[in-house]
Amino acid sequence: MTAQLLLGPLLRHVGETTATVWVETDSSCEVDVLGSTARTFEVYGHHYALVVVHGLRPGASTPYEVRLDGELVWPEPGSALPACRIRTLGAGTFRLVFGSCRRPGHERGIGSDALIAYARRMAEFDESEWPEALLLLGDQVYADEPTAEAKEWLATRRDLRRPPGAEVTDFDEYAHLYYESWTEPLLRWLLSTVPTSMIFDDHDVRDDWNTSRAWREQMSKKPWWPERIRDALVSYWVYQHLGNLGPDELADDEVFKAVTGHDGDAAPLLREFAQRADADSTSVRWSYRRDFGRIRLLMIDTRAGRMLEPGDRSMVDDDEFTWIEDNAEGEIDHLLLGSSLPWLLPHSISDGESINERACDEPGLRGRWAEMLRQVLDMEHWAAFRRSFDRLARLIRRVASRRDAPASVTVLSGDVHHHYAAEATFGEPVRSRVHQLTCSPVHNEAPAYIAWGFRIAWWRPLAAVMRRWARRVGVAPADVDWQRVWGPHLPNAVATVEIDGRESRAIYERAEGDELVTAARLPLTTPPDR
Ligand SMILES: [Fe+2]
Repeated sequence: MTAQLLLGPLLRHVGETTATVWVETDSSCEVDVLGSTARTFEVYGHHYALVVVHGLRPGASTPYEVRLDGELVWPEPGSALPACRIRTLGAGTFRLVFGSCRRPGHERGIGSDALIAYARRMAEFDESEWPEALLLLGDQVYADEPTAEAKEWLATRRDLRRPPGAEVTDFDEYAHLYYESWTEPLLRWLLSTVPTSMIFDDHDVRDDWNTSRAWREQMSKKPWWPERIRDALVSYWVYQHLGNLGPDELADDEVFKAVTGHDGDAAPLLREFAQRADADSTSVRWSYRRDFGRIRLLMIDTRAGRMLEPGDRSMVDDDEFTWIEDNAEGEIDHLLLGSSLPWLLPHSISDGESINERACDEPGLRGRWAEMLRQVLDMEHWAAFRRSFDRLARLIRRVASRRDAPASVTVLSGDVHHHYAAEATFGEPVRSRVHQLTCSPVHNEAPAYIAWGFRIAWWRPLAAVMRRWARRVGVAPADVDWQRVWGPHLPNAVATVEIDGRESRAIYERAEGDELVTAARLPLTTPPDR
């Protein structure tokens, strides 16, 4: 019996002459892509491979097939979709598509899937119009809110009346979520053809993941939690993180080397790694960097790496922040900072989160109330880690002020189930234009009150009231100001950063039925004088 392809191929990292292709198969085998091969590794009885394809030509488009033990398994016979291919970076327009929060399937009341609409349109376009990169900014799977179909499947495994009920608990159940999310034919084709970078947000693990030390203490008391968090991280490593790394990083990665060199099931190795990663967030760096010529994408982990000491919180530990700062340096035309959580929110919310952070540190009832609000209202964005908010502002200001500053510095985010764009300014003029672009959800609920709430939150008089309150409780003024440029808007959407040399623009497109409709085109750079 020959091996079968279960999931993928996912085209992940593409360099000038190399690419990585990820697959899940039903049994152990050798995977071949364009003559480069990898043996599958085993995790909890599942089989995966990440094939590093070498010898590609720069600026070339190379159709590819996947073979398992020499047998052709991809593309599927009779597929009407264009041949999947690896396109190494060349000259011309660069497009990066991004979004977050995608539920699979066809649930009532959540509209149509913007990423599937994107794939449908892409399949009709000439490949010169195809994007060079796709960025999934979190909530790739909803481990705590599975679909009705996934719940039915969970019910065949165990009694859902017992904790944690209809949430996933272990690796097999996570594998099912990824299978459910990534097998829709158009999406599967998109993921086989556009190199994809990913980072988790809370729902890939659980709502409010790592919002505070109090939250971690609450969760640690639940008997099912240790297995859940462990296998959340094991599955994230297998399904999402591995493909974020390039061939050189993989060659140096001790965990990857140990897993792919291991005889038999590597689950014990990955369990140990995941337990360490959860217990000591400094032991692993989930943040990563990807260069596309003179365009740099720096992905910041804003979930797993948090330091939660009351009075001394930070989004990532000091060493990781230094790594982020160091990697923002270099000769580049555009810096894209990926952060699942928006950096710049409406001013009143931003100040509200900073006020709440201080209140959480107070003893007694006030502190407990503040902690409850932090959890209930999701007050856990950058401003709720105010030292990190300020450090990111300094980083951006420094990059934007350099003599050889990039033309644009843009923070790309998701999470908040609506989309908007804001432009940042600093006390003195800087050389780069700086924006916050938020695009969420790709396919999820976006109740109308969210848009109304956020519209009110951007209201200047309310911002002034909150600012005065913030000063009164000792929150220092930020070193950055920002203005809303567009939004907030609700429907399912994807956004594109489109770059030509030093020029860059953002395009927001919303899903209407099977179609995508352009909602906004926003310049991200100052056009050169003509
Ligand atoms: Fe979400």
